[in-house]
Amino acid sequence: MDNSPTEAEQYERIRTRVFRSSDEAVRVVAASIARLIRERQEEGRNAVLGLATGSTPLKLYRELIRLHREEGLSFRSVVTFNLDEYYGLPPQHPESYRQFMEVQLFKHVDIPTANIHVPDGMVSRLGVFEYCLEYERKIGDAGGVDVQLLGIGRTGHIGFNEPGSAIESRTRMVALDRLTRRDAARDFRGEANVPEYAITMGVGTILQARELTLLAWGESKASILRAAIEGSQTDTVPASFLQRHSNCRCYIDEAAASELTRFRSPWKVGPVEWAPPTVRKAVVSLASDLKKAVLRLRDEDYAENGLAPLLVETGSTYSLNIRIFNELQHTITGWPGGKPNADDSNRPVPAEPAQKRVLVFGPEPLDAELGMAGTLHRLVRHQHDVTFAYVTSGNLGVPDNEARMAISLLNELSVNGPGDTRGNNRLEQLAQELEQKAPFDEDSPGLRQFKGLIRKAEARASCQVLGLDVSKVLFLDLPFYELGRYRQFKTSDQDVSAIRDLCQRIQPHQIYVTGSGAEPSSVSGISFRLVAAAFEAWSAEAWMKGCQIWLYPSSERPWTTHEIDMAVPLSPAELAVKLDCLYHHRSQRSQTPFSETQSGESWQQAEHNNRATAQYYDRLGLPEYEAMESFRRHKESELRPASIASS
Ligand code: GLP
Repeated sequence: MDNSPTEAEQYERIRTRVFRSSDEAVRVVAASIARLIRERQEEGRNAVLGLATGSTPLKLYRELIRLHREEGLSFRSVVTFNLDEYYGLPPQHPESYRQFMEVQLFKHVDIPTANIHVPDGMVSRLGVFEYCLEYERKIGDAGGVDVQLLGIGRTGHIGFNEPGSAIESRTRMVALDRLTRRDAARDFRGEANVPEYAITMGVGTILQARELTLLAWGESKASILRAAIEGSQTDTVPASFLQRHSNCRCYIDEAAASELTRFRSPWKVGPVEWAPPTVRKAVVSLASDLKKAVLRLRDEDYAENGLAPLLVETGSTYSLNIRIFNELQHTITGWPGGKPNADDSNRPVPAEPAQKRVLVFGPEPLDAELGMAGTLHRLVRHQHDVTFAYVTSGNLGVPDNEARMAISLLNELSVNGPGDTRGNNRLEQLAQELEQKAPFDEDSPGLRQFKGLIRKAEARASCQVLGLDVSKVLFLDLPFYELGRYRQFKTSDQDVSAIRDLCQRIQPHQIYVTGSGAEPSSVSGISFRLVAAAFEAWSAEAWMKGCQIWLYPSSERPWTTHEIDMAVPLSPAELAVKLDCLYHHRSQRSQTPFSETQSGESWQQAEHNNRATAQYYDRLGLPEYEAMESFRRHKESELRPASIASS
């Protein structure tokens, strides 16, 4: 590839290729790895690969396995070095990176065991330093790493090089960042069970590889990628040090690229087509940057900020400002199910039918409540026929202590009551299992089911606060989740048909869902793709044609103002109802104390986001509300059900 960036890439300090989907990207990366392996084989030499874990490289490993099975790619002459390993986990542990690599790649190809290197998480504390030196020596003895694969963590870490890691750091033991441990909490069923330390190759070790390949998918990686690719080099974002490497490439999908300047503000890097969404984005960004109301923007504001071409295109500042102001105003509605008997030509939701069938999908309990409890409350009060479907039980997110508390409560009851010994036996078994569990042990199916019941009880209580009819609160318990583990879920036809049949049975006028097709294996990403697949299946049905799909945001990635198609204001009293609803999900309380930079509880984050959305509208010159929930309209054409079976 030519090394000079194009005009559009002028802000990017690492060469970045953006693909429509992760499937396309991994095919390109796998083909180049296969080429390297074959070339080396012809020369009678080994290919040395640096490997990464996490959900990001999963599809790449699947593609390499396919090349092995279907196109005869042999791994006999491949030597591998993994980036990192949790400290304290034995190699057989299901969450150890060694085990991850076995299951996801090694056992499916013909790589000799002696060629595999993953740091040993069980090496004694006193021996760690020597062990790490030895790991580096082995890399050197193998001739150095040819291609190092990398993912990126939300802290900007590569491997486990957390913020603060020096550019010259080598393989060593590190303490994990709080955000990283929180992200891993689901894998380990509670933050308290996540190892506190890890062994990782250093930034300096990584930079010595001859070629670096960073992969990233989904919106959740967009802002940290912008910092790594366009920001200055700093140890607060260790991935930014990749800018130093002359042969580093990022392979990312459109969702992960969305914060790069060429997508975020394309007018800054060359001529653009002024389609209506781009115009709104430009005007709203300009007003926010200048901290001005839209109607107060002047000619010189546009001209001094590279937006003169927009004025040429659209005529006068005055009419442009009015147009965008009106567009924003029309997104606001207190009638998320449509306002009966009103002129709906400028409203986000049609007036007819007055009573709508509404289907809300919550990937796990609490997700939909965080995103749209206030709107749910309104839909119920406005007498719409609301069905709330929890796609999964969320049992993997229940800490052991919550289960202990529930057992103790039930025990009290049976001791004082007539005493159902059968029930008691089961409780005893569960109590014993909890007692005997080692820190990183898996839960038995029975314990998982029990934990699921805890979440269902919380969910029912929270739905009651919103006035939902309990018989309309459904728990789908989809098998991909009940039988799976975090970051490695696999969907089957059963999952697809459960969602498809539900949609067909309800024939909703509105569907509310969260997540995006680009997220590799998060529960919300899978739920989204299942809904997309159902839409594909029913696209010819009459009810589908009139059905609106609304996307509510996650707490981590609230919608920015220009993206919002419907904003539902919440009064102070409605916000209080929402918080009351959220508090019922007590098993989801954060297990670590707050810090100044990271808001602790998810409901604090949701409240903050809803207040912030209202403030943005206010600053743009629109009415001032206490808080607002926000939604993006999803058009049928934007739903990409691609590769649902291989999630
Ligand atoms: C862990 C790994 C990293 C990985 C990161 C992102 O922290 N040590 O190597 O890049 O997770 O994980 P995911 O790919 O699941 O987003």
